Amino acid sequence: MGQPITIKPAGGRLGILTPGMGAVATTFYAGVFAVRQERAMPFGSLTQMGRIRLGKRTEGRNPLIADFVPLANLNELVFGGWDPFPDNAFEAAAKAGVLAAKDLLPLREELEAIRPMPAVFDRGYVRNLDGDNVKGGETKMDLARQLMEDMQRFKSDQNCERLAVVWCGSTEVYTQPKDVHMSLEQFERGLRNNDPDIAPSQIYAYAALTLGIPFANGAPNLTVETPALLELAHQNSVPVCGKDFKTGQTLMKTILAPGLKARMLGIRGWFSTNILGNRDGEVLDDPDSFRSKEVSKLGVLETILQPEQNPELYGDLYHKVRINYYPPHGDNKEGWDNIDIFGWLGYPMQIKVDFLCRDSILAAPIALDLALFMDLAKRAGQRGVQEWLSFYFKSPQTAPGLYPEHDLFIQQTKLKNTLRHWMGEELITHYGGEYYEE
Ligand SMILES: NC(=O)c1ccc[n+]([C@@H]2O[C@H](COP(=O)([O-])OP(=O)(O)OC[C@H]3O[C@@H](n4cnc5c(N)ncnc54)[C@H](O)[C@@H]3O)[C@@H](O)[C@H]2O)c1
Repeated sequence: MGQPITIKPAGGRLGILTPGMGAVATTFYAGVFAVRQERAMPFGSLTQMGRIRLGKRTEGRNPLIADFVPLANLNELVFGGWDPFPDNAFEAAAKAGVLAAKDLLPLREELEAIRPMPAVFDRGYVRNLDGDNVKGGETKMDLARQLMEDMQRFKSDQNCERLAVVWCGSTEVYTQPKDVHMSLEQFERGLRNNDPDIAPSQIYAYAALTLGIPFANGAPNLTVETPALLELAHQNSVPVCGKDFKTGQTLMKTILAPGLKARMLGIRGWFSTNILGNRDGEVLDDPDSFRSKEVSKLGVLETILQPEQNPELYGDLYHKVRINYYPPHGDNKEGWDNIDIFGWLGYPMQIKVDFLCRDSILAAPIALDLALFMDLAKRAGQRGVQEWLSFYFKSPQTAPGLYPEHDLFIQQTKLKNTLRHWMGEELITHYGGEYYEE
């Protein structure tokens, strides 16, 4: 056993702020309220339902994660957000159509009280939307200051001890880091000069990190994955993580692909197509926003299968991902996968997956876990990229130059071992030979 690290206690209220109050964010808030009212169970949430094995299998120590590490309690959470549409969280949830009226109505009062603060919004980054609940300012630095005021006002009005920010806003168009992102100094100059390469999500991230508030990115946009914002995160000792909640089809992919690879089954092709009809689907109908998503979804197989190390099995893999906006399906996405595999002597086989999934039902517990774990990381004195949270992301952020780990089961081990390490417990290697020694 090692020495536990010092983690400040989780006393007082934790404010969770979401840029974006659409389907995921409102399903997240509503779910927490429903659990608090004992109307539902927090299925899908590792922080609420997961256990962690400690020590040897013979010791029988399997506490709930929530009893093992000092996480904020659901009763201590308060929510706020920003959105270019003025709907309160009840109206937004009703429009998103994820939860049925019978489930939303008992939560009406609590949801109506969450009204979106005016957003920092730029149609150049999210083309298929247009709302008028937006901030005005001479420069992007003015906008950042206004966001900081919002955060501080929320914290004091709601009597919060701490805050965490989880980006639940629309997917911004695909961009790569430019000069303005290369250092904090260049970035701050860019904010003052209204540099067009600074995206709205980066202004939120800058505001949060400047105030020492952890920032998790649920969308595939670049956001904190830049040297400038990482420099700020290090300077102010703030944890960050991203990108893109791992739900739906990519979740299935990172469950299936490691299994096929473990058995040395070859894959010739993997065709994935989705139809979805929510606002996210509408935004992704813009090819530049889709490009952000496509890049985030495509990287997964490559790092799991390592075709350069297994050329006979995966060297010729054809991987294609499509997303189609289809309004009649609403938030109930349908993800089809056709997987062409081959086995012994090269004989071909096919796997078809038709996942009738509910995107926001899968994403909401991720948003909760990220907020709670990021708050924990901050209290544990962690800063910069939190790779142990890769478990939750399609495109996990890592140290520059390090390839991400996509295999869900390795990610889970990484997460749990991080918690064991922090608490001074032995890391679990799954070696197990000691059970058989005389
Ligand atoms: N639902 C999932 O399973 C899932 C999975 C992975 C990633 N995501 C990502 O999470 C994000 C949210 O998904 P959703 O289904 O809730 O989408 P949504 O369209 O229902 O909600 C996004 C909200 O963000 C708002 N918004 C856009 N730009 C903003 C800005 N600059 N500031 C504040 N608000 C802004 C929009 O008005 C909208 O209300 C999307 O980027 C999506 O790609 C979702």
